[in-house]
Amino acid sequence: MAKREGRSGRGWVVGFYLPFPHPAVSLDEVSVTLGGLTILDSVSLSAPRGAVTGLIGPNGAGKTTVFNVLSGFVRPDSGSVSLGGRALRRVRPHDLTRHGVARTLQGVGLFPTLTVLQNVTLGARARHGFFADSWGSPWADREAATVRETARARLSELGIGEEADRLPGELPYPVQKRVALARSLMCDPSVILLDEPAGGISAADMADLGSLVRSWVPERTVLLVEHHMELVMEVCDFIWVLDAGRVIAHGTPDEVRRDPAVLSAYLGEPA
Ligand SMILES: Nc1ncnc2c1ncn2[C@@H]1O[C@H](COP(=O)(O)OP(=O)(O)OP(=O)(O)O)[C@@H](O)[C@H]1O
Ligand SMILES: [Mg+2]
Repeated sequence: MAKREGRSGRGWVVGFYLPFPHPAVSLDEVSVTLGGLTILDSVSLSAPRGAVTGLIGPNGAGKTTVFNVLSGFVRPDSGSVSLGGRALRRVRPHDLTRHGVARTLQGVGLFPTLTVLQNVTLGARARHGFFADSWGSPWADREAATVRETARARLSELGIGEEADRLPGELPYPVQKRVALARSLMCDPSVILLDEPAGGISAADMADLGSLVRSWVPERTVLLVEHHMELVMEVCDFIWVLDAGRVIAHGTPDEVRRDPAVLSAYLGEPA
């Protein structure tokens, strides 16, 4: 079992598992305190380009906080983040698409009063800016039409094209999860951060989700937070394990599955 915390943020730890030498995203010794509690304690991890990397751990381990750090919603007390191989002093949520990063939220995070199509178009990056959009310039109108067309295509790819004009609340939960996925694909991301995409979906939907995620690599990089172990073991090339804000293990699915520290964190057995 390769457990090498420490210099992993430079990317060489996962790079150690050739053939993915450069991480698409990484955290280097990131610590986060919220409300006086240490939520992440010197966490270093990385997701190699073109692979599916899992981030697992018991409830409250800090997985969503890692995503919040990567997407700029939480500023670390110390440590650094890099996206697309570039170390960033500060990540701002509105800059994420510029860095080629998309994120889905734990749950669905759809706007209830907007149609499915409108929700999905929100994932696109506006190119003409506020004034062109507000004054309805021909460029903005053309762009809006293209965005709607792309959104319809994304919905069809996910098998929910016929739901475009419905409101999210009219749809079963698994379909809402797909709408959220469609929205995340609108900016044609090179990195996708998925926070519990399989929460509340059936075994059949989960198998489809697994195939979908695998179909994104190696063109895209995926960092997947998920509690469903079968899915994680099936789709991930590498896995990082967090427990109580610390990295306790990482490696291939087989290595992680057998790791005593992981068994202890999940089952309460002594490590
Ligand atoms: N804004 C906040 N203020 C204080 N504590 C917080 C805040 N956000 C998260 N926490 C705490 O940080 C810890 C880690 O939370 P986080 O949501 O990252 O865990 P998680 O691994 O995603 O858990 P789950 O599997 O349940 O989604 C939890 O104990 C949570 O209560
Ligand atoms: Mg979470």
